[in-house]
Amino acid sequence: MKVVAYDRYGSPVQLKLEEMETPAPKGDELLVRIHATSVNAADWHLLRADPFLVRLSEGFSKPKRRILGMDIAGEVVDAGPEATKFKIGDRVIADLFKYGYGGLAEYKCCSEEAFALAPSNMSYEEAACLPLAGNTALRAVRNKAAVKPGQRILIHGSGGGVGTYMVQVAKIFGAHVTALCGPGNVEQSRALGADEVVDYTQRDILDGTVQFDTIFAVNGSRKLSEYSHAMTDQGLYLMVGGSNSQIFQALLYGAFYSRRGGKKFTHLAASTTVEDLETLVKLAEEGKLKTVLDKQFTLSETAEAIRYLETGHAKGKVVVLPQA
Ligand SMILES: NC(=O)c1ccc[n+]([C@@H]2O[C@H](COP(=O)([O-])OP(=O)(O)OC[C@H]3O[C@@H](n4cnc5c(N)ncnc54)[C@H](OP(=O)(O)O)[C@@H]3O)[C@@H](O)[C@H]2O)c1
Repeated sequence: MKVVAYDRYGSPVQLKLEEMETPAPKGDELLVRIHATSVNAADWHLLRADPFLVRLSEGFSKPKRRILGMDIAGEVVDAGPEATKFKIGDRVIADLFKYGYGGLAEYKCCSEEAFALAPSNMSYEEAACLPLAGNTALRAVRNKAAVKPGQRILIHGSGGGVGTYMVQVAKIFGAHVTALCGPGNVEQSRALGADEVVDYTQRDILDGTVQFDTIFAVNGSRKLSEYSHAMTDQGLYLMVGGSNSQIFQALLYGAFYSRRGGKKFTHLAASTTVEDLETLVKLAEEGKLKTVLDKQFTLSETAEAIRYLETGHAKGKVVVLPQA
């Protein structure tokens, strides 16, 4: 099978197309022919070992896992003797974060516990985007913020992979959604159902004139004190992603800020379960959740896909097609 692998941390130039033996499924494993894989910020963070602490889990001098790619959608083509949940030909999705990654390849072989049936109304391209980004949005809105109907929320960074799902998930939970994005994503956020869309080049939404019950910093770029200014007295700030300094600020000072009053500052560390995947699939099949597809690349163009994602201005999700 063809895979895109890397042996040294660094820029996308490290990603090389190579041939590898296609694994045979053992025990409860499935062999899945990958029709689409979506790339995530996690892929370039691991590729670059950025932040440096990545090396503690991924290998200090070189990466232990050579094939990146967290999200896949594909077709079951073989199964181990103890695999019982799926049949050959089933369309499935998975978040491979807990299964050694490996989505940037023509096939993935791992435990059937990783998989859920793909939404029947989504293409492989659309379905491959759901697991990691969709689950991050779901975990943030439902679990961590426990958003209630009528609450005013701000999504800072509504235009990328996580943001496009989060606008929709927050509407499902009944929130009044203000989406904050650049000029290229205003129409998209509106079309996804945001009640108000603010272009950050036109207006400073954190000027204190509007108070939010929850602020989701999906691509946070402002200081905690600036977010605090735009929160209700019992408001919640949830750091999902952003620059390294943004992330460390939330981790280091979040608790300190939280003690100063009713406001709470915390962060999200999302991990996907099959139950989460099934919830996302159900929402998609009910027509409540859709994928916003941006660019698509072939496996040999993976470096280009990662470079594009790294510009930080994707319009929805970026997909790689291993079978193309
Ligand atoms: N905590 C967790 O468990 C978890 C899980 C998954 C992902 N993450 C993190 O979440 C973050 C977002 O992931 P993603 O998949 O959505 O990334 P992405 O698809 O690369 O997001 C890019 C988006 O960021 C927006 N953006 C860039 N600068 C901005 C700014 N100053 N203000 C507002 N928006 C800005 C861009 O929109 P515009 O062009 O409109 O600016 C673009 O649409 C990443 O940092 C990722 O590492 C965290």
